[in-house]
Amino acid sequence: MNKVDVLLGLQWGDEGKGKVVDVLTPQYDVVARFQGGPNAGHTLEFEGQKYVLRSIPSGIFQGEKINIIGNGVVLDPALFKAEAESLAKSGHDLTQRLHISKKAHLIMPTHRILDAAYEAAKGKDKVGTTGKGIGPTYTDKISRNGLRVGDILCDFETKYALAKSRHEAILRSLNYNYDIAELEKEWMSGIEYLKQFTLVDSEHEVNNLLKEGKSILCEGAQGTMLDVDFGSYPFVTSSNTICAGACTGLGIGPNKIGEVYGIMKAYCTRVGSGPFPTELFDETGKKIRDLGHEYGAVTGRERRCGWIDLVALKYAIMVNGVTKLIMMKSDVLDDFETIKACVAYKQNGEEIDYFPYDINEGIEPVYVEMKGWKTNMTRMTKESEFPKEFSEYVSFLEKELETPIAIISIGPDRDQTIVR
Ligand code: GDP
Ligand code: IMO
Ligand code: MG
Repeated sequence: MNKVDVLLGLQWGDEGKGKVVDVLTPQYDVVARFQGGPNAGHTLEFEGQKYVLRSIPSGIFQGEKINIIGNGVVLDPALFKAEAESLAKSGHDLTQRLHISKKAHLIMPTHRILDAAYEAAKGKDKVGTTGKGIGPTYTDKISRNGLRVGDILCDFETKYALAKSRHEAILRSLNYNYDIAELEKEWMSGIEYLKQFTLVDSEHEVNNLLKEGKSILCEGAQGTMLDVDFGSYPFVTSSNTICAGACTGLGIGPNKIGEVYGIMKAYCTRVGSGPFPTELFDETGKKIRDLGHEYGAVTGRERRCGWIDLVALKYAIMVNGVTKLIMMKSDVLDDFETIKACVAYKQNGEEIDYFPYDINEGIEPVYVEMKGWKTNMTRMTKESEFPKEFSEYVSFLEKELETPIAIISIGPDRDQTIVR
């Protein structure tokens, strides 16, 4: 096995990353998050329990593995405290096994307020963010005004007051009314709570672990089509969600990366605004939403649903250098007469097979249609049990995407996973 493997979403997030990271964790010594923050909602189910993780890596439930929150992550101490305390209550004490980079940036209460203020100012053009302050925090990081986890160890009050006053000036200029008292109280209590964790220079830690022969699984958040450079800009998140983000978000050289696992659903979903070429507005879309329980893990928002988009997937595979695919939620399509896959787009009357710059302009999907399998796959335990039509769907996707599908998921539980 290679020492560092990366697992990331290939669509617009919520592909099922949390579930598969949990399934793969026994093969690794360390699991590390490298970007994003509490905008993520990673769901795991096992032994009749369901957990949703936002900032904490999904390797936390498998034995005594080290889990790392890397420098590329943005951390809200108040939300982190709530998440860690709820895990501690259910018997998972993380203080010894969870290491947090001192270089990770802190999401301040005023970042969350700014997120809301900027969205309000955009009106109908809003991004539909998760409201967790992600954009404003990464903005401060890039403009060299941010507060980092390491700052809580020295002269923190002064640094906080300065950053807060800058945000207040912006909010005044936007005429935005807000109440910060309660948010700030919880946040300060989160800062104190953080101090009991091992705060590390995670770039040293991961490279030392690699020298000792340890293996690391990097857990992506969001998805490639939400990447700030390659996603459907401006309807994206504010970090690099692609494989390269694992290098910058943990301090790992690109030559250390082995497998790049790209996760996709057997269909496609999106939350928030922005283009989605294969979106279905009809009964079929509603049926996918109902059967797939497509409601946001963090915000509870309805997810927009549609058929799988191979044009976007090929693009995602290319920019990530994906070596293996993982297909999730195959069971959600168990009861359809026909299944469709988008193989090209029609733009201005012309058929194109690549992901274009101006994805926002009237794009029409070109579909191939296949017979559905009309079989309940949720209790199957090996590939030989798969219905013929499903196996044909898998072979079709592998051929079109020129990448093997290594894992197939047929239900939310850890055990409903078929490794090929
Ligand atoms: P993530 O953000 O990529 O970790 O994905 P989410 O947790 O936001 O959304 C995936 C949802 O699908 C969760 O509710 C999972 O429990 C569920 N899920 C994962 N894999 C499967 C699967 O194969 N079948 C079904 N029916 N649900 C799944
Ligand atoms: P996981 O890790 C799905 C979307 C938001 C919005 C856009 C920008 O669970 O797959 P942000 O709050 O990041 O500034 O919002 O990105 N978004 C996600 N959609 N899954 C996620 O994470 C997401 N994180 C952000 O809905 O459209
Ligand atoms: Mg999610």
